[in-house]
Amino acid sequence: MERIDKFISDRTPMSRKDVKLLLKQGGITVNGQTVQDSSLKINPETDSVNAGGRTLVYRKNTCVMLNKPDGYVCSTRDGRSETVLSLVPEELRTKDMFPAGRLDKDSKGFVFLTDDGDLAHRMLSPKKHLTKCYLVRLENEYDERYEELFASGLEIDGGEICLPAKVCGISHDRHFAFVGLDEGKYHQVKRMFQAAGNKVLSLFRVQIGGLVIDGNLAPGECLEVFNNDIEKMLSQFDFSDARKSVEICFWSYLINNKL
Ligand code: URA
Repeated sequence: MERIDKFISDRTPMSRKDVKLLLKQGGITVNGQTVQDSSLKINPETDSVNAGGRTLVYRKNTCVMLNKPDGYVCSTRDGRSETVLSLVPEELRTKDMFPAGRLDKDSKGFVFLTDDGDLAHRMLSPKKHLTKCYLVRLENEYDERYEELFASGLEIDGGEICLPAKVCGISHDRHFAFVGLDEGKYHQVKRMFQAAGNKVLSLFRVQIGGLVIDGNLAPGECLEVFNNDIEKMLSQFDFSDARKSVEICFWSYLINNKL
């Protein structure tokens, strides 16, 4: 059983305060009956909740946002190292859960885990071009020439050609860059900077599609994500807006995650 205000605010852009107001206005029904009490407990699996004309569907799958620390591998099993699954608390971990997409063992930041195979397929499909954004610490200073180089489809070692990618410097520190990639080749960010004559010292994934990692998540912490955030993740976003947000959160990313 779950409180109705939490159930609705987890699945829509509404805050709990907005939900309370809408309840008062008679805009919410449970199984067709108007309800007004924000502490009302509902059964998300069987009750039909309608908020402002929209019926909220119960997701039978579980989706998790993890702030991955380094030292963990993005797989469900590994003989030698701990996997990201071991960081998911028991109450959120389900039998079929797996990381949808990979970060290297020494990379940090946003990993999305789910037991929803269709969703993972949609996220990882090359056709979807779900952009992933990374904050990286560089050995040498950022060079503005990277912008053209990355945009033109860089050739990385072994002769692979990358899709056009976006990159920019961070105004607070010349040794950091923010990168947006529409694909995920093996060690891609590291190899792109290497091809450009630099070296990645640490890498933190900030964003998957339109969904940014929750800045309050400490390394190793998780939270459950719901429909509203999944829609955000699958939606388009503007790279220059993402860059502005990273500039604002830069110091907290840096300090909280020891980048
Ligand atoms: N690119 C890398 O080089 N490493 C990662 O973990 C992710 C992207």
